[in-house]
Amino acid sequence: MAKFSHKIIEKNATLMLVLSLLVVSIGGIVEIAPLFYLQNTIEKVQGMRPYTPLELAGRNIYIREGCYTCHSQMVRPFRDEVERYGHYSLAAESMYDHPFQWGSKRTGPDLARVGGRYSDEWHVQHLIKPQSVVPESIMPPYGFLASTELDYEDIAAHLKANAAIGVPYDDGMIENAIMDVEAQVNPDHEGVEGLEARYVNISIRDFDGQPDKITEMDALVAYLQMLGTLVDFSAYEAEKFYR
Ligand code: HEC
Repeated sequence: MAKFSHKIIEKNATLMLVLSLLVVSIGGIVEIAPLFYLQNTIEKVQGMRPYTPLELAGRNIYIREGCYTCHSQMVRPFRDEVERYGHYSLAAESMYDHPFQWGSKRTGPDLARVGGRYSDEWHVQHLIKPQSVVPESIMPPYGFLASTELDYEDIAAHLKANAAIGVPYDDGMIENAIMDVEAQVNPDHEGVEGLEARYVNISIRDFDGQPDKITEMDALVAYLQMLGTLVDFSAYEAEKFYR
């Protein structure tokens, strides 16, 4: 009987196709559906905030220059990775990333937690000439970033575009985007107070060592220095323990 019915299926291409699709979708649902309900794939974590306009501009440069072709931004949950880079990445850490920068190519190290690991001067020097700080490096130089003034006239539009796809930039953030760029590189700027009210846990300083101008280097270093620094993992672990 079983043999007989299988023959029917094998002789009827449409029936075969429909039944294969059915079997494949059951398999797919079994694999994918639980992800929507598992706590650790959807949990919110304390500390996540949208990028400041300066960091967002830096992120755009990161993408423009193709840094992702050599660097990933996701610490996998394996012991060797956690020991080298720090706590494995949480889904919530990239919830405001459009597009995300997880990547799988690691010609250089993962950068998900590079923020605060080196000084600004180190980053500037490294980007200008990687081999001057890491002699065996094969990373290309990006010195022009230090001499290229940052074009941030349209930065509000970038915030707006992100807001349209769910990043919680409010009207005040969009309206003040240009001033926020200028305030983040200058602690004496009159807009600093507003900037700090709009974004928590941010670094306000001249990042590239050239206080007289706002360069692409400022933006990129501001971005690199905040990577992986938003979530306080000691609090996260404690909370997880008591849940
Ligand atoms: C051709 C591949 C390549 C590209 C493209 C590249 N890098 Fe790298 N990067 C490396 C390698 C290899 C290293 C390790 C040696 C070193 O520190 O220079 C590295 C190291 C780094 C480090 C130090 C990381 C650490 O934990 O020590 C940072 C930060 C960095 N790169 C940022 C960038 C940025 C930003 C860009 C884009 C502007 C970029 N890289 C583009 C290959 C690359």
